[in-house]
Amino acid sequence: MTESANRFGIIRTPFARAVMEAVRVLVLGAIAWLVGLPLPSAVQAADVHPRLGVPITAETAARADPTVFADGRGLPPGRGNASEGQAVYGQRCASCHGPEGRGGHSGRLTRARSPLSSPPSPSASASAGRPADRTIAAFWPYATTLFDYIRRAMPNDRPGSLGDSEVYALTAYLLALDGIVAPEAEMSAASLPAVRMPNRDGFLRMDRPEPPRAR
Ligand code: HEC
Repeated sequence: MTESANRFGIIRTPFARAVMEAVRVLVLGAIAWLVGLPLPSAVQAADVHPRLGVPITAETAARADPTVFADGRGLPPGRGNASEGQAVYGQRCASCHGPEGRGGHSGRLTRARSPLSSPPSPSASASAGRPADRTIAAFWPYATTLFDYIRRAMPNDRPGSLGDSEVYALTAYLLALDGIVAPEAEMSAASLPAVRMPNRDGFLRMDRPEPPRAR
């Protein structure tokens, strides 16, 4: 320090000091400019995102939790009847479930063969018993959860791709095939919770005790 002070001491006149000051400002300015130069692009970089997807709409956000409860809470607007449902079924469901909900390679949907409410045969052991009949009339206690399931999970190869009115129409069609609703009935948030499924009382309610809490 002393050395450099001596070095500058040689030119310690007011003019020289002013020149040195100007040089200092220029050098510092240049450094600041050089360091500052990448700043705008760095700021831009922070602003740049992958630009994938599109901003979420309120409708999509509402569908992020599509739960429909047994009592009908959560049912969306829309409506559909069996003849509309028949058309959608032919295009989106029949390839797996067969025409009119049976005969396809995936689960049979219509014409229950053994309602769950039928008493088990005394000779049938748990392992020897037939698998549960999972047709809609036997296996679904509420039409509202059938709507929820179809909207959420079907078609199996493209779940979530159906519009709400299409799901109402499909529900109407599948229920009408088994005579649970009239062929001309229109399903909507108002009418669907009023549908009484034929096997609603064929299920056992199990109130399981809360498991002990881990400490
Ligand atoms: C690519 C084949 C495929 C298509 C298309 C398809 N499903 Fe399914 N579906 C399945 C399979 C597989 C299951 C069984 C899924 C499981 O148990 O996890 C199933 C199960 C179901 C069930 C539940 C049956 C039960 O009680 O267990 C319903 C109801 C249903 N599908 C309705 C539909 C409707 C309505 C459509 C048309 C929108 C449709 N499916 C299209 C393959 C398909």
